[in-house]
Amino acid sequence: MVGRVKTAVMVSGSGSNLQALIDARAKGEIPHIELSLVVSSKQGSYALERAGQNGIDAVVVERRRYKDDIEGFERELLSHLAPRGIEFIVLAGFLTIFSKPFIDRYKDRIINVHPALIPSFCGKGFYGIRVHQAALEYGVKLSGATVHYVDETVDGGPIIMQKAVSVKEGDTPQTLQRRIMEEAEWVLLPKAAEFAAARIVKERECPV
Ligand code: GRF
Repeated sequence: MVGRVKTAVMVSGSGSNLQALIDARAKGEIPHIELSLVVSSKQGSYALERAGQNGIDAVVVERRRYKDDIEGFERELLSHLAPRGIEFIVLAGFLTIFSKPFIDRYKDRIINVHPALIPSFCGKGFYGIRVHQAALEYGVKLSGATVHYVDETVDGGPIIMQKAVSVKEGDTPQTLQRRIMEEAEWVLLPKAAEFAAARIVKERECPV
């Protein structure tokens, strides 16, 4: 029996990357991950529907209620994570930067998927469709996705995996976004999450 890591997937939008994790679970591709909780920073996100349809516990912690009070927001997050024994956090389109104390609490236990090849088109302001607009404006011929450990900087932290995707003649930000999701994000995120979770299990079994 493989040791499993209680995992929270944090989302703010449609949750297609959450779906990739759910599909990978059904195929037995993420044996070290227990999808224990979905946290949505917005009411009514489609990700919540996906959680419900797949029997995954879900909560809403509304980011907009806290404005600059990041500590208050994180306190509410922790009130959901701690009682469930969550050890690993996957950010899948979660539009919040955590404070250093929160990052330190989950050191090497938080990963994020970004829809570009870091260090290109990342950092403050590069989220959603803007990332792809910037890539097309620059004229790059390759873009892609990156999964990385999260630190207290925007899109910082050690890279776990990357996958390149070709930009095609006539691409719009929307077509490029979709191709990067299909060819890179949805493939990479389950693989990288499994890698990070297996590492947590190993550390648990053989503490350094
Ligand atoms: C993805 O492009 C992801 O890379 C970025 O936010 C988007 C979330 O999309 N961090 P979805 O909610 O998983 O469909």
